[in-house]
Amino acid sequence: MIALERAKHPLKGDVFVPGDKSISHRSIMFGALAEGTTEVTGFLNSADCLNTIDCFKKLGIQIEHAVRPTNGVPTITVHGEGLHRFKAPDSTLYTGNSGTTTRLMSGILAAQPFDSMITGDRSIEQRPMKRIITPLTSMGADVTSVMGNDCAPLRFTGGKNLHGISYRSPVASAQVKSCIMLAGLYAEGSSVVYEPALSRNHTEVMLSAFGADIHNEVARDGSAVTILKPGMPLHGMKINVPADISSAAYFMVAALIVPDSEILIRNVGINRTRAGILTVLKQMGADITLLNIDESSEPKADILVKYSELHGNENHQFVIGGKDIPTMIDELPVVAVLAATGDFDTIIKDAAELKIKESNRIATVVENLKKMGCDIEATDDGMIIHGGKPLHGADLNSYSDHRLAMSFAIASLCAEGTTRIIGDECVGISYPSFFGDLLSLL
Ligand code: S3P
Repeated sequence: MIALERAKHPLKGDVFVPGDKSISHRSIMFGALAEGTTEVTGFLNSADCLNTIDCFKKLGIQIEHAVRPTNGVPTITVHGEGLHRFKAPDSTLYTGNSGTTTRLMSGILAAQPFDSMITGDRSIEQRPMKRIITPLTSMGADVTSVMGNDCAPLRFTGGKNLHGISYRSPVASAQVKSCIMLAGLYAEGSSVVYEPALSRNHTEVMLSAFGADIHNEVARDGSAVTILKPGMPLHGMKINVPADISSAAYFMVAALIVPDSEILIRNVGINRTRAGILTVLKQMGADITLLNIDESSEPKADILVKYSELHGNENHQFVIGGKDIPTMIDELPVVAVLAATGDFDTIIKDAAELKIKESNRIATVVENLKKMGCDIEATDDGMIIHGGKPLHGADLNSYSDHRLAMSFAIASLCAEGTTRIIGDECVGISYPSFFGDLLSLL
């Protein structure tokens, strides 16, 4: 448990948040699927990403952590051997708390000549896997939920010849899309995924840099299309992982809720499919400036955030929904905290996916904000936050959800009295140095 107090003075300074979680996972996965070495700098050394490394080690891939002698930068080297040289694991692959590892690895395991099993912690064993079992099965894979509840553990029977599919996903989910694309690398014919809105496109951007023939299009009805043609060799490459915008979001909100704060967050990934929070905060009136923009395939910038008075529209409302939701899905808990401090109502809608994250984030965010004195209601696909009531400290449960623990650590900065977060150690899932970085600003 950690106990936190209201910030006593403005937060000022530079923050270097750790590497992007989605890109770190994919660096290891795609490096393992490629021929030759992939060198990754800026890798996120957190529990989730280390589980991805362990899974590939069990599949016979050599992966080294080293500090480059020339410049002292920690580097991960993945010795990929191509699509067809994995060895059968001698035990169940364990993904811990990581949905990305579980769902993306499943696409790879479904296509192997050997049998395998994958599972994770209690949270993973309750998260829906039907969303990948259905398309993988249509591709010819043999995947079963061992307990028959459409959750992990999942068992894969090897030796199936997969064929490409054209799949209309009911949800905008990068994990579903990427699972199909990874299985599609091994399939006969192209794989096409339609999503109601474009989910994060790191798989498309990165796999294409590794040599795959993959791209995004927009369908006539407005849905997002991803198309993969298999058969191109993947080759190892150098990857420099930008800082994670989902981790940067905590400090953006911190600067916006503690008067007179000014925080510069360095080298943050601003891929348009991830950067919805920047647009939404600016629409709320936040003073945010992007500096040193680097327009590479995974663009990055330094983000300067200054304390600002936020506002809704002329009816004192602010609505977040539609195609913006997938571009900021993981930031919604901390955006809800911010909304609680604004003098207007915020309606978060079209976000039913929040219910099946590491916790049911509609229920858990609403419960904790209520405990802090906020006037808030849960809805079927989001929440309505009647902002402006002063927040007070409370005893809060993280529900072992890293994003919840960090969001409420930020809420404590503007709450009267002490906020205690039970189960704060879960921040190690995506941001082990979070409390140290936060305390350095206080
Ligand atoms: C992720 C995709 C998102 C996101 C998760 C990471 C990824 O999940 O919430 O934290 O790396 O592909 P969904 O695909 O389920 O939306």
